[in-house]
Amino acid sequence: MGVDELDRQTVRVSGLSRTFDVSKPWLNRVIERSPKAFLKAAQDITFSISRGETFALVGESGSGKSTVAKMVVGLLEASAGEITVDGVDMRGSQSGKAMRDLRRRMQMIFQDPYASLNPRWRVDRIIAEPIRAFGLENDKKAISKRVGELLELVRLDPRDGAKYPHEFSGGQRQRICIARALASKPEFLVCDEPTSALDVSVQAQILNLMKDLQDEFGLTYLFISHDLAVVRHMAKRIGVMYLGRLVEVADGKELFRNPRHPYTRMLLEAIPDLEMSGRPRKAVEGEIPNPITPPPGCAFHPRCPLANERCKRELPLFMGAGETGVACHAVEEGRA
Ligand SMILES: Nc1ncnc2c1ncn2[C@@H]1O[C@H](COP(=O)(O)OP(=O)(O)OP(=O)(O)O)[C@@H](O)[C@H]1O
Ligand SMILES: [Mg+2]
Repeated sequence: MGVDELDRQTVRVSGLSRTFDVSKPWLNRVIERSPKAFLKAAQDITFSISRGETFALVGESGSGKSTVAKMVVGLLEASAGEITVDGVDMRGSQSGKAMRDLRRRMQMIFQDPYASLNPRWRVDRIIAEPIRAFGLENDKKAISKRVGELLELVRLDPRDGAKYPHEFSGGQRQRICIARALASKPEFLVCDEPTSALDVSVQAQILNLMKDLQDEFGLTYLFISHDLAVVRHMAKRIGVMYLGRLVEVADGKELFRNPRHPYTRMLLEAIPDLEMSGRPRKAVEGEIPNPITPPPGCAFHPRCPLANERCKRELPLFMGAGETGVACHAVEEGRA
């Protein structure tokens, strides 16, 4: 990797892990003689995102996507690993000012637009809050002008600022969330299932809006979804997660053309066939195991059609050239 390329990688995540202590209370443990229990929600997650690029994380429910997102924006402390944004370490060793600037530059958009908006505030106050908090504008008139601009940016009417969140539809509320996220002039947005709570027709509008905004402002996205069809539309590169680990990272087009990991193939086979090519559609088989007691070896082996003895024993290492790769014994041995 050249210096140029390193420079373009604005977000770098390496070896990121998070373990939750999910033990029962002390007294129960003593009475039931049960040991402490730990849940490894994310393990050894490594990826980087170039400026202006969209990197997506996909995986079934519980695979650790939101855990990674929260660690990246600093809402959740990592148990191990590093996150750097433009070379600045996120773990708060910097001065207050540098940290504040970093916080301004990265924002998060959540799945449920209603839960993330204060129901008692009018929309203009909601959007103005980050502008005030980061001291981007100081006088009232300038703030209200900026709020109007932001509402227009997300294709709402500046007069909508006088309303409350409950007066909007789900799609409009997500637009408000996007406007608030953009208020601090961020460069990097972490979007955790931003359209999963929306009607399919509205989903497309929001996704297109996000793409337009990306083009306009050169935004970098970490985009999270359990829906491969959505991810295909949005992301240049895709990371597939299973039970807290990245099992495959590939260029978006390549992933759909030539999925390598058996889990990726399983996810792809379950997508509805919109082109009506006659491709048989297979439901995703099996269930995600209990993450507190994950299977030994490759965690996917109980569901994998290609699993052998080695897969039951040995954790597959992530093999890859630079930015893409796969963690699978069957692929490594040429059995896939
Ligand atoms: N605060 C917490 N305490 C204990 N366990 C947690 C906590 N947060 C998440 N987990 C567990 O970590 C695992 C990963 O959760 P996470 O929310 O990251 O999954 P996800 O991929 O975002 O799923 P979904 O698609 O349903 O949003 C799950 O097994 C979850 O139960
Ligand atoms: Mg989630």
